[in-house]
Amino acid sequence: MPEGEPGVDNRCMASDRAGWGAARGRSPQGLGAAALLRHSLLWASRRHGVQRVVSGSPFTRRLVRRFVAGEDLADAVAVARRLAAQRLSVTVDHLGEDTRDAGDARAAVAVHRTLIAWLASEGLASRAELSLKLSALGQHLDEELASANAGEVCRAAAEAGIPITLAMEDHTTTDSTLRIGGRLRAEHPATGLVIQASLRRSEDDCRSLAHPGSRVRLCKGAYQESAALAWQRRNDVRLAYLRCLRILLEGGALPLIATHDPPLIEACHRLMAATGHAGVPHEHQMLFGVRGDEQARLAAAGEEVRVYVPFGARWYPYLMRRMAERPANLALVLRALTSRA
Ligand code: FDA
Repeated sequence: MPEGEPGVDNRCMASDRAGWGAARGRSPQGLGAAALLRHSLLWASRRHGVQRVVSGSPFTRRLVRRFVAGEDLADAVAVARRLAAQRLSVTVDHLGEDTRDAGDARAAVAVHRTLIAWLASEGLASRAELSLKLSALGQHLDEELASANAGEVCRAAAEAGIPITLAMEDHTTTDSTLRIGGRLRAEHPATGLVIQASLRRSEDDCRSLAHPGSRVRLCKGAYQESAALAWQRRNDVRLAYLRCLRILLEGGALPLIATHDPPLIEACHRLMAATGHAGVPHEHQMLFGVRGDEQARLAAAGEEVRVYVPFGARWYPYLMRRMAERPANLALVLRALTSRA
């Protein structure tokens, strides 16, 4: 559906569009400032100098604990156990990306295999999933290497009855990730793929993934992309998200609705009701440390809710992307920068 055309997707968001500015008291200039902050933090997420300063701050440690289960496997398993006791499912992510060394990629495979064995031995397999970043498995070195490494993790996970979802990184990796995902799905059809609704190409990608049994995590997209490639305005991204969701629903895919955005979540439910998909299997996914109240509310309302639980020593880029998602988080980063011991 072309941007701005009246239709069910636009109607689903219409009331929120009116309410968004009012609720936040923001002018269009205010949203411009928010975008600038977001870009600055995403820029900082790729800068080693800023990483050194932020990582050295005592305040940062507290911040990391809010968004990351811990540095060790045991921390991730403990959080998974706690969430499972609250009837929440988890998707565990070993932090690490952009590996430039084949040995490091092999080490990442080993960590994932240990994690799978540990989750299984704790009886958590039915509540757990793994989220895999292909760049941690060597995607930037060689696509074949990453594919083989991911295949090994998928086989171990399948034996334990744990599904895998391939996370999606910046747009330069989209084609390669979808290609590898397609290959993995031939052997393991439950392998999940991620669509970033903010990318202009995503509706087409959804069409090729919209078939029964296809698990698709639908998120907005956490990376800084140009206007030529991605919708930039918040509401345009929300409308694109709804168009993607509609395509997935109509094709019979299993949508994994990965957003914390309350108006968008409501709009997803309205869209499902309006298009005759009320009650079809779907899942809500949210990040550890973000909107725990909403996670509990949805679970209490009978929704399937999965919490994304990251762990590991390489938390810096992940933390900065989380900071970038919310202008209020800038104050936290500034505090981390100025509270160096
Ligand atoms: P949005 O940014 O619209 O914020 C809505 C509200 O949620 C805020 O007002 C605030 O209350 C709360 N909130 C959101 N983020 C917060 C934060 N960091 N701190 C505090 N409060 C916050 N991206 C990607 O490119 N590739 C991927 O593979 C994934 N995978 C993924 C898995 C899961 C389970 C989730 C939930 C998200 C991802 N993402 C992702 C990230 C996603 O693309 C997006 O950047 C974030 O979810 C933020 O967008 P939302 O729509 O959730 O909230």
